[in-house]
Amino acid sequence: MNNEYKHYQTSADYIRNKAGYQPEVALILGSALGGLAEEIQNPIVIDYANIPNFLLSTVESHAGKLIVGDLGGKKVMCMSGRFHYYEGYAFEELTTPIRVFHALGVKQTILTNAAGAVNPAYQPGDIMVIRDHINLLGASPTRGVNIHEFGPRFFDVSNMYTKRLRKLVNEVAVEQGITLQEGVYYYTPGPHFETPAEIQAIHRLGADAVGMSTVTEALTAAHCQMELLGLSLISNMAAGILDQPITIEEVREIGERTVETFKVLLKETVKKM
Ligand code: HPA
Repeated sequence: MNNEYKHYQTSADYIRNKAGYQPEVALILGSALGGLAEEIQNPIVIDYANIPNFLLSTVESHAGKLIVGDLGGKKVMCMSGRFHYYEGYAFEELTTPIRVFHALGVKQTILTNAAGAVNPAYQPGDIMVIRDHINLLGASPTRGVNIHEFGPRFFDVSNMYTKRLRKLVNEVAVEQGITLQEGVYYYTPGPHFETPAEIQAIHRLGADAVGMSTVTEALTAAHCQMELLGLSLISNMAAGILDQPITIEEVREIGERTVETFKVLLKETVKKM
């Protein structure tokens, strides 16, 4: 684990040189949502493997490419494929993407993911704006030596999913005739889905959706005071809500069906950020 700001600057310098400019907004695309990257105009594609000090994606449904280009009139960078705790990374390593964004000068990030519905009123295909999250795994990705260029040792996380961006995406949804849910995301480490008893407990704790990503990135973004928007695609009802097993195929299939709506929502939101 590297504790120096320049470690992240090395990755950022490589990306800046490849792109020839500095992107303003970053996006991280979750499972089955990689297709959103097709919306980016004038794309410059960079393999994670070529970025110094970056991580490698090991999940099949995650592409492992950084796409820099134009979206909604803005210069954006988009990670198609993200890093998860279940791949074996240490929590601290999962700070890497957001820290590289910060070193590049990015001040706004959109995180997307696929999640299971814990709230029984939700349906597969719904899009949930993340209002807040619950992380009972206990660990923080920012543990260890504090790198003060990113932020202070102790930091506030009461407005992690920035109010301004939540309001903005809701306005865009009304304009575009897209219905959104807004709720609390519960973080589970995976890679297994949850037991029905866990889902009942998670529901009682006040969560609306459950998933295996996003939270490490959100905490890292809060540390460096980056504006953040989190969007969950509800890909399935969580374990035990329906009398059927959860499969990764259904997660992917819903992603493919919802990707067009997601594209409109993201593009129009980026335009107004
Ligand atoms: N649980 C955890 N992660 C998920 C789920 C789920 O039901 N669906 C998609 N990602």
